[in-house]
Amino acid sequence: MNPTHDIILQPIGVIHSPFHDPAETPIQAVRSTALGQVEVFPQFAAGLQDIEGFSHIYLIYQFHRCEQTELQVEPFLDNQKHGIFAVRHPFRPNHLGLSVVELIEVSGNLLQIRGVDVLDGTPLLDIKPFVPVFDERQNVRSGWYETRSKP
Ligand SMILES: C[S@@+](CC[C@H](N)C(=O)[O-])C[C@H]1O[C@@H](n2cnc3c(N)ncnc32)[C@H](O)[C@@H]1O
Repeated sequence: MNPTHDIILQPIGVIHSPFHDPAETPIQAVRSTALGQVEVFPQFAAGLQDIEGFSHIYLIYQFHRCEQTELQVEPFLDNQKHGIFAVRHPFRPNHLGLSVVELIEVSGNLLQIRGVDVLDGTPLLDIKPFVPVFDERQNVRSGWYETRSKP
């Protein structure tokens, strides 16, 4: 496949949340205790087998209410501009978001979750189990976040 070709993605579900206004939505899942629900479309529900064994999951989704793209932005936690790939801001070229949320309960194709930082109706592109040993690293640096201007 030519890596410059457009890619068409099919949502596998939708994220329901209490948030309707971007300005009132938590800026990161780790700072949120809000409850939400992941609705996986029935044709993908078989893919949820054994998900209940995981306390946390990654949600990969599209910031569907964001049309703006900027390659350098001031992130929510700093008053200096940084490259879009050095921040987690929605203004990225493909508007892809990533959140680790707590998985509270699984009932058929519905997942009850805690720690939501997305708008209601956000299209869900993928779910992956959160397995700390896969992502844990030693000697981690967090760039501008370590000297950010906001708490
Ligand atoms: C800074 S982003 C971080 C999201 C995710 N944890 C990440 O790192 O990709 C979170 C902000 O994106 C905005 N947002 C959330 N869901 C959105 C959506 N579906 N469309 C547009 N903006 C959204 C809200 O302003 C929210 O505070």
